[in-house]
Amino acid sequence: MQIVRSVAAMQRLAREWRRAGERVGLVPTMGYLHAGHLSLVQRARQLVGQRGKVVVSIYVNPTQFGPNEDFSHYPRDLRRDARLCREVGVDVIFAPADEQMYPRGDGTGFSTFVIEEALARGMEGKSRPTHFRGVSTVVAKLFNIVQPDLAVFGSKDYQQAAIIKRMVRDLNFPLKLVVAPILREADGLAMSSRNKYLVGDLRAQALVLRRSLQRVQAAVRQAARPVPASRLKVELKRFVERAPAARIDYVEFFDPETLVPVPKVKRGVQVALAVFIGKTRLIDNARL
Ligand code: PAJ
Repeated sequence: MQIVRSVAAMQRLAREWRRAGERVGLVPTMGYLHAGHLSLVQRARQLVGQRGKVVVSIYVNPTQFGPNEDFSHYPRDLRRDARLCREVGVDVIFAPADEQMYPRGDGTGFSTFVIEEALARGMEGKSRPTHFRGVSTVVAKLFNIVQPDLAVFGSKDYQQAAIIKRMVRDLNFPLKLVVAPILREADGLAMSSRNKYLVGDLRAQALVLRRSLQRVQAAVRQAARPVPASRLKVELKRFVERAPAARIDYVEFFDPETLVPVPKVKRGVQVALAVFIGKTRLIDNARL
């Protein structure tokens, strides 16, 4: 396994692979890898085959963090990540130094952005106004640098995956976007690098995200007719905030393809929520 730290070196490799006709799969991450990330790597491997190339990018992208978010303390451990990647048979880690991706490293001195203007408006986009601009821009850069045949994203970040899928279509990126299921801890908590912040009893309180989704799921399955979203939102918020450290940021019921909110909730509707557990902001989602 190779660790590539410069854009030029990554582009050189990508060119060689292209010339040799190799299939290339990319898994973009911000590192501090967990089994959820590794499940995407395994999916990429299945799809490109044993002779194909799997690239994991590890880059904590400054432009997708808001001014009061956790960019500077976001967990980083490249040595551990490299060990995990080696164990699952990754071919190349692309871990660019900051100045490689943006001229001044911190995301300033850069003025060309990719902005998705429909799917990115609600939910995460409303709570974190510049977040998806940063995500779609850095992912477009990664696609241009690595030139993969396919890229694998997790449905843990449901809205993100939908936006990237739209970007690929709208801007004609010549690759296939694959969206893989959410991997969870044994007790149901969705795996996330940010779970590291959940110390003491916050870890147990974080279970309210999944449990609240399961409650709505049961309620919707049992209901004889579609249930008003407004009512489910009130009930879900009340349930979540029974955990003393939990404060709900948003909960939304929406069409799984268009992400347009629905007034009445029935089977097949997608639900997503963001909850602060203490200072840590967690997200989760489910298909009803
Ligand atoms: P990061 O949060 O590191 O996630 C990288 C990829 O792993 C994303 O596609 C995410 O949906 C997926 N993932 C995270 N937790 C998962 C879980 N429990 N099960 C399955 N997949 C999971 O998302 C980002 O990084 C960044 O925004 C990025 C796309 C890399 C752009 O900077």
